Amino acid sequence: MAGDGRTATFSGHVAEYEQDIDRILITGGDIQDRIRELGEQITEDYRGRELLLVGVLKGAFVVMADLSRHIRLPLQFDFMAVSSYGAATKTSGVVRILKDLDIDLEGRDVLLVEDIVDSGLTLQYLLKNLRTRRPATLEVCALFEKTEVQEVDVDIRYRGFQLPPVFVVGYGLDFDERYRNLPYLATLKPEVYAG
Ligand code: IMP
Ligand code: MG
Repeated sequence: MAGDGRTATFSGHVAEYEQDIDRILITGGDIQDRIRELGEQITEDYRGRELLLVGVLKGAFVVMADLSRHIRLPLQFDFMAVSSYGAATKTSGVVRILKDLDIDLEGRDVLLVEDIVDSGLTLQYLLKNLRTRRPATLEVCALFEKTEVQEVDVDIRYRGFQLPPVFVVGYGLDFDERYRNLPYLATLKPEVYAG
């Protein structure tokens, strides 16, 4: 099988994942184009300031890496690890902080970078938590958003794509810790969840 991701018969990027992919919802190229636009917008909005990007692990590591290289400003990075899903595909509403930030947020311009906002519960919890640390500003950049299933209203300043209410993998998003390195966003075949 050809493994360069450009042939008609192989679009899966990872040969071993090919049989699991149901449909590609957003191509890698479209994701990169949108991230470039978001980076340019952020650069305009924060000009003259030093931004602190806070990524929510694990999913956001991919978008953080790509987005940050389109932000032409002095930048600092920090990461938080939270867990809300485990190996399930529905949120429990219970957010656990597995790793907290290293950098003090007080007086900082903070941009929280999320991979995907589903119910919004994770983001709501994180924003409430981070606000108590008294940043000068706190905004959110979410690459993907499932608008129809949002249970709580969260204020997202920079949004990439709106999605239908389906479970997706790729571009940082996993099912059972797999598929994060796919450059596109895809759905999985039902039997993958069953197995
Ligand atoms: P929420 O609390 O329901 O908004 O869920 C947020 C978190 O759940 C995200 O940061 C992801 O880690 C995970 N998540 C939500 N939807 C998906 C999905 O479709 N695929 C993979 N992970 C998801
Ligand atoms: Mg996540």
